[in-house]
Amino acid sequence: MNIGILTGGGDCPGLNAVIRAVVRKAFNYGYTCLGIRNGWKGLIDGVIEPLDLNSISGILHRGGTILGTSRTNPFKVDNGEEKLKQNIEKFNIDVICAIGGEDTLGVAYKLSEKGYKVVGIPKTIDNDLNATDFTFGFDTAVNIAMEAIDRLHTTAESHNRVIVVEVMGRHAGWIALYAGLAGGADVILIPEKPFDLDEVANIIKKRHERGKNFSIVVVSEGAKIKTEETVDKDGSLIISSLKKDEFGHVRLGGIGNVLADEIEKRTGFETRATILGHIQRGGSPTAYDRVLGTRFGVAAVDLIRSGKFGRMVALKGNEIVDVPLKDAVGELKLVDLKLFEVAEVFFG
Ligand code: F6P
Repeated sequence: MNIGILTGGGDCPGLNAVIRAVVRKAFNYGYTCLGIRNGWKGLIDGVIEPLDLNSISGILHRGGTILGTSRTNPFKVDNGEEKLKQNIEKFNIDVICAIGGEDTLGVAYKLSEKGYKVVGIPKTIDNDLNATDFTFGFDTAVNIAMEAIDRLHTTAESHNRVIVVEVMGRHAGWIALYAGLAGGADVILIPEKPFDLDEVANIIKKRHERGKNFSIVVVSEGAKIKTEETVDKDGSLIISSLKKDEFGHVRLGGIGNVLADEIEKRTGFETRATILGHIQRGGSPTAYDRVLGTRFGVAAVDLIRSGKFGRMVALKGNEIVDVPLKDAVGELKLVDLKLFEVAEVFFG
């Protein structure tokens, strides 16, 4: 059995733990592993190399992915599927183990519908993938953001400032909500709940009236501001670029600066913005993500062994289960608004 492993989409702490687990478990069964470079791109270009126990030694704690990654969509590349098929045959790949988020697994699902043997492993710092309670990478991103919020507290307090912290998450507010709750944010703004600028300013003003001299606002990059023009619609997105990737996603970011200006104008308090950006995706994974990634990797090889293709390993409660790839893609897993209500108790 030859397993082709690829990592697609944005990189994420814990990817190497998954790759290591797949290769180690596969080795125990006498299977061979091939590393496909840079996501689906490597399968189209035929950049594929053997992965043995030496290649995965000493990588558990390392961030990023030893296989490289890309946001390539084979269905958007000229003759992409044909090239992919030729390389699957050329390299004798029996099954593809795709490690990725919605986009990478969306391709995996399409391929499995066309008869290719594929299994999926859920990855994303955004935690927005359906059919799994958590994805690996999320816990690390939340811890990085929480530590940043802790640090911003001391400087905000010393300078009597409001600090707006912009975090990633795309169209789901999981990172903002978890990091904001863990870091004791005074306001948390998420895409699932378009917000009114005056309401935010009033929360901060009230907090300062009761004697506090600083505030921390955590805003998700995809959060939406209600404006007069959009109030009846879905809010408006502040996007830093109209550039789209091959899966049609615009590059988000920039709401933190806009928000900081508006808060300062409305409250009169000096306000600064900090955009955490890719820091949230870099560096070593937390213990939680190493363990989750390892469990996913081992379970994926068992899926392959039982011939359960077209499926993804997933976390349900504390159990690793498997679900159809179809259930994971198509719709995003948005924030549980009951959890947001818990966070609201601490606003202001
Ligand atoms: O999906 C992960 C993620 O980090 C999002 O939170 C963010 O919007 C996006 O990727 C950034 O993508 P890129 O690394 O291509 O700038």
